[in-house]
Amino acid sequence: MCGIIGYVGKKKNAIHVLINGLKALEYRGYDSAGIAYMENNKINIIKEQGKIKNLEEKIDFKIKSNLGIGHTRWATHGKPCVINSHPHKVGKITIVHNGIIENYEELKKILIQNGYSFKSETDTEVICALIDKLYNEKNDMIQVLDKCRNLLKGSYALGIINDDQPNTLYAIRKDSPLIIAIGENENYISSDVPAILDYTNKYILLDNNEIAKLTDSKIDIYNINNEIITKKIKTFEWNIEKTLKNGYDHFMLKEINEQPEVIKDTLLPYISNGYKSLLNNMPCFKNYEKIDIVACGSAYHAGLIGKYLIEKYADIPVNVEIASEYRYKKLFINNKTLVIIISQSGETADSLAALRKAKEHNIDTLAIVNVVGSSIAREAKDVLYIKAGCEIAVATTKAYSAQVAMLGLIALNIAKSKKKISNQKIDNFIQDIDTLINEMKKLLKNENYLKIAKNIYNKNNLFFIGRKIDYALAMEGSLKLKEISYIHSEAYPAGELKHGSISLIEEKTPVFAIVTDKSIAEKTISNIKEAKARGAEVILIITDELDREADFYDEKIVIPKINDLFQPLLSIIPLQLISYEVAKLRNCDIDKPRNLAKSVTVE
Ligand code: F6R
Repeated sequence: MCGIIGYVGKKKNAIHVLINGLKALEYRGYDSAGIAYMENNKINIIKEQGKIKNLEEKIDFKIKSNLGIGHTRWATHGKPCVINSHPHKVGKITIVHNGIIENYEELKKILIQNGYSFKSETDTEVICALIDKLYNEKNDMIQVLDKCRNLLKGSYALGIINDDQPNTLYAIRKDSPLIIAIGENENYISSDVPAILDYTNKYILLDNNEIAKLTDSKIDIYNINNEIITKKIKTFEWNIEKTLKNGYDHFMLKEINEQPEVIKDTLLPYISNGYKSLLNNMPCFKNYEKIDIVACGSAYHAGLIGKYLIEKYADIPVNVEIASEYRYKKLFINNKTLVIIISQSGETADSLAALRKAKEHNIDTLAIVNVVGSSIAREAKDVLYIKAGCEIAVATTKAYSAQVAMLGLIALNIAKSKKKISNQKIDNFIQDIDTLINEMKKLLKNENYLKIAKNIYNKNNLFFIGRKIDYALAMEGSLKLKEISYIHSEAYPAGELKHGSISLIEEKTPVFAIVTDKSIAEKTISNIKEAKARGAEVILIITDELDREADFYDEKIVIPKINDLFQPLLSIIPLQLISYEVAKLRNCDIDKPRNLAKSVTVE
């Protein structure tokens, strides 16, 4: 969600770096893009609505520049259009911004009283005018940015250029991500690592309220007291090859196919010595009597699977909540509660706020995160990293599966720490990993997905049903389909359909029915028959142990039965791949669906 890139240095042409960087940040989601670059001590700004290629068409790449900032905007204040796009310039100050300023209307009034006028509807232009006003008063950018951070309420990552300093780039952040990347005689700022991986893998994480001053040869970071501090230089481990498509048509397809490897990488460090490895490298779960799992979107769906597994094996209650609700509701927690926050990006604003709320109540927090060093990873008491690697497609697949795998592992660890499970049972689970990986690989190659996709890709409305863990899977299957193919779908607990929504089922309405849990299978099958009797075209996803010849389905995908912990990791694959094929048949922008952002850093 909004991407920032900035460059200062004599080795490269800033314009090229900015455009490459913006392309690498495309996955975050955007609706307009722009750059500002210094040419002969003068700032030029070029902005365009829509894709980066529209912007490229307006740029003269022969121009040489050693300083610039670029931005992909995901509209929050004001519609997507050229005027509202970044960079914004007021007086001597040009900026790009990611985040939301909550008191911008108040500030705008004061600035108007001071003679400023505004062209756009954005909060960003207000920040720009504010910095310009403060600079006219103080003439010292560090003092100006210090004052600015006291006046701005909300979240921001800012890249800033001052007309008076044609070789200097400033940055500041609060609650929106920003890194400072280090080159030789050149330096960068960026929202995320992929934008700079072509040039360097060395970076510094800018912390909240820190100010960065970058020239080609020097980076100064100032803390809240305006003292220069030394920051740890980090090395990014994911390499650029791994972030490329590797011959797949889309990142999403590549990432779906990476799942067997990702699951292995995520689980192995914790189980290499069978049941004896459990409880190592994990927080101590012994004293918790209740767990709140908090997340958004697919991470929330992974949390629902975690609930079933933890309740079943560890025998403690688990409450799963959507972060945007949790952050504002009354919490029923005490010192025997653990709050688990799940987030691929580690930057989701609502999940971060939920984490902070739990911390304000002095509750222990555990983050399950993919992006190393992200805000949620840093702020939680404990963190367990999934090993999904860089996920570029906006619709999550491999990170979701890795979250589910990690929650299964947590269920085993809690069960062991509470003596609810035998060592033999743990080893049985662990021994199934090879089978899991092999079966995942086979399911990825199943050829029926395209056939099913061809039957449903021109429908307007469909359902996903299941019970218990299969309902949690239905929710994820439904989200995957709607976000990338734009077909409306709803997920329902199979037994709930007849309490209202079954009235939407008509002749040939597709209904995906997931049946993997033996304990409830016959009940789900009765519900499938109810839908079928009303004309539904049923696509059954069923385990081999429950499979049967029958007339209550039209299409069937049979998946191998494995233990409960790993079953969802098999069941989700057909749902992901059918969604992918449907979106492809509908010519959708699969990796960057409309209106969506990879990292939702606003509330
Ligand atoms: C759906 C999807 C989103 C994210 C959600 C949370 O495919 O990707 O629903 O799961 O926005 O994002 P993270 O996990 O980064 O907190």
